[in-house]
This record gives sequence, C-alpha cells and structure tokens, in this order.
Amino acid sequence: MLGTGYLGATHAACMAELGHNALGVDVDAKKIEELSQGRVPFHEPGLPEVLSRNIEAGRLSFSTSYEDAAKFATVHFLGVGTPQSKDGLGADLSYVYSVIENLVPLLEGDHLILGKSTVPVGTAEKLQELADSLTKPGSSVEIAWNPEFLREGFAVKDTLTPDRIVVGVNTHREHSKAEDVSREVYAKAIANDTPFIVTNLPTAELVKVAANAFLATKISFINAVSEVCEVAGADITQLAEAIGKDDRIGPKFLRAGLGFGGGCLPKDIRAFIAHAEELGVGQALNFLREVDDVNLRRRQRVVDLARSTAGGNLEGRKVAMLGAAFKPDSDDIRDSPALEVAAHMASEGAQVTVFDPYAMKNAQQKFPELSYAENTADALRGADVVVLGTEWKEFKELDPQAAAKLVNQRNMIDARNVLPLDKWRDAEWTVISLGRA
Ligand code: UDX
Repeated sequence: MLGTGYLGATHAACMAELGHNALGVDVDAKKIEELSQGRVPFHEPGLPEVLSRNIEAGRLSFSTSYEDAAKFATVHFLGVGTPQSKDGLGADLSYVYSVIENLVPLLEGDHLILGKSTVPVGTAEKLQELADSLTKPGSSVEIAWNPEFLREGFAVKDTLTPDRIVVGVNTHREHSKAEDVSREVYAKAIANDTPFIVTNLPTAELVKVAANAFLATKISFINAVSEVCEVAGADITQLAEAIGKDDRIGPKFLRAGLGFGGGCLPKDIRAFIAHAEELGVGQALNFLREVDDVNLRRRQRVVDLARSTAGGNLEGRKVAMLGAAFKPDSDDIRDSPALEVAAHMASEGAQVTVFDPYAMKNAQQKFPELSYAENTADALRGADVVVLGTEWKEFKELDPQAAAKLVNQRNMIDARNVLPLDKWRDAEWTVISLGRA
C-alpha cells in the first residue's frame, strides 16, 4: 500500500484483516514509525484494533522504503493524496506521479498497480505510459483503477464491506490481469454478494468524482431550499423528512445546516469543475460552482447570524464554538465549516473559544489565533453567543438548564439542526436554526 494517510493506513490494515500479507509504505518516517507501533495518527473508530491485531499476527508491517515495496508485493495499491493545487481549482497530482517514478524502476517480474486516489479522468492512462517508459526489460507493470469510497468515521466498515467494488481496466491491453487479481484480492467481499463492477479506466476514474459531486449536490440542494425556508417561515427539517420518504429521493444526505467540508467533497467538486473545463465540457458542470457557492454561503450566514445575535457587532463579544472537526466522530479539520466560521468571527474581533472532543490538537495547529477550552463547560463559560458547529453526540445531548448557568447570555445558534428546540426554549434560550422559522 503506497501512501499511508487516511485511506492508505485503513486499506493496508483491512487488507491484512482479510488475510493478505500487507506492507504500508510512506515517505513520512514519523507516520510509519507510529503505525509500526500500532498507533493510528488520526481518530478512526475501530482502526487501532484492526491495526494492532494484524501487526501482532505478522500480516502487516510498514516501511519508508520503495525497495521494500518492490520486493514485498506483486499487487500494489496507490493511495497518496491529491489535494487541491495551490494555483487553481484542479488536483495536485505530484504525489501520484512520484510513486510511479520511484516504484516502477525497481519492479522485477509481473506487477499490478491498483490506483485508489481520486484523480482526474485520463490520469491512469498517462500513468501507464509513464510506467511503460520506466519498466525494466522483461518485466511488466499494469495500471488499473480501483476507486475508494470510504467515509471517515466508518472507514473500516466501508473497506471491509463496501457498497460496491469498481475496477477500471485498460481495455487496450492484451492479457490484462487486473480483473482476475482484483477478484482474488476482494474474494471475501465478492463472496458476500458485494457488487463488483468492471469497467474501463475513464469510467472508474469518473465514478468516484461523480459520487462525491452527487453527495455534495444533495447537501447543497437541501441547504439552498433551507435559505428559502428561512424567509418563508417553513421548517427545513420537516421538509427534508417529508421529501426523503420518497424512495427515489431517500432520507440520507439531506441534513441541512452548515454544509459540507472535509478532505474530499470540497476539493473533489472543484477538481471536477476544473477538469471538465480542460476537456471542453465545462458548461456541463457549471451547476457545481453553485453547489460550492451555496455551501460556502451557509458559513457566511452563520457568521451573520452570530453578529446580529451579538447586537450587530462581534467586537469584544465572547463566542463559544462547539465543534472543530468537519464532522462528528473525526478529528479531521480539513476545510472544516465550524473552524472557518470561528476564524471569521475572530477576524471581526470576537473572542472565540473552541471545544471539540477529538480535534483540538489539529485545530490548535491550524488556527493558533483562536482560544481553546478544556471541555464544553469551559467553552460555554461567559459566552454571549454559542454556536453548535459540529454535531458531536455530547453537544446534541447538552442540558440546556446546566448550560444556561454557564453562559453570559442564552443565545444558541444551532448550525447543524440537531437540538431539541422545545427543551432549549423551555430553558429560556433564544435558539436560532438554519432553515427553520
Ligand atoms: C466523503 C464521501 O462520503 C466518501 O464516500 C468519500 O470516499 C470521501 O468523501 P467524508 O469526507 O468522510 O466522505 O464525509 P461525509 O460523511 O460524506 O460528509 C461530508 C460532509 O458533508 C461533512 O462535513 C458533513 O457534515 C456534511 N454533511 C453530510 C451535511 O452537511 N449534511 C448531510 O446530510 C450529510
């Protein structure tokens, strides 16, 4: 497994859990050291157990050496990051290319590289050309694409028992072994009737971005309707429940609020827009710009609500931000809506105190200008406005009576629509929700 970030560390551990012998390789020596000792450098329920169990069983190890990878395996997964590039909306593919450049010249015999990273359509074919130019005489290296759909917080489950397995195969290649090898690797899931979809490379590459674009669109759809609900006196949570009963729509990903963040959805829709433009079909995905805009507008809306709740000016006002992770059960703060709102309020002069059950360390590193509390009660103490930015269980279950004793003013902005409004209003809180009258 080349690349041991969120995806790679999970995939390596889960491959071992399935009974394979797995080696995780990364250029980050610190990460490899931690993983070797059975420590997961991020919060992912269930993963530490899978990791330790398989290291102990001798099926899983880690290394910083490409030589080790080349000698160890004939099937290689590529799972390095493809972040948004610094100079535009597109994806930065330098880590992906670097793996091929470093690994392929070392390979002897017949090898298969299954790409898992989210890449623009056409990348796999270019990587195959590069690999062909680097392959030792007498050896062969085939590149296929096997996109990853795991969600943070459910990474182990999504990897061991995925909804579907997609394998994109180079249809121009004679004697491709990608399908047969993938069937062997994923034999357990296939035996449990997991749909196994074999397709060409461009389709496999597109499946992943299309899935994320659809999810982002669903969230922004409900958030756009929630903007209308706010002025029309309607209730977005009841509306979402009602439309979600329609099988064709479904209830999932219709939670209106502060919108989506994280390491995938925002960057993937931007990369998809950028790439469609390069392909000359930019117009087809123009709506995704609006999906992005609706999403970012929700963050601005929460800042505006906090300002008006504070009497028109945030200067010197104390704000408690409950949540820093981009979603609950994660310590990931990449493009976190809660933290962006917190930083924005601080830039307007508010004294923002943040608390999150797991993401404090990451938040402190990225936003040292914010204050951080030891626990929820400390964050609430003396607050003029409280913002619920990430729907952790402990925030959803907060006791409004007890919280009232800590704050300076009982102003709650429920930016995730998760609080029982009656209970909070009975305790004489002013609760402002997104998309609810
Ligand atoms: C996502 C995809 O779900 C996953 O398949 C892909 O492999 C990686 O990207 P993840 O980033 O872990 O996974 O988060 P996800 O659970 O999809 O949530 C994304 C964001 O949307 C979060 O910020 C979440 O708070 C937000 N969200 C989700 C909503 O605002 N409303 C919803 O109804 C659902």
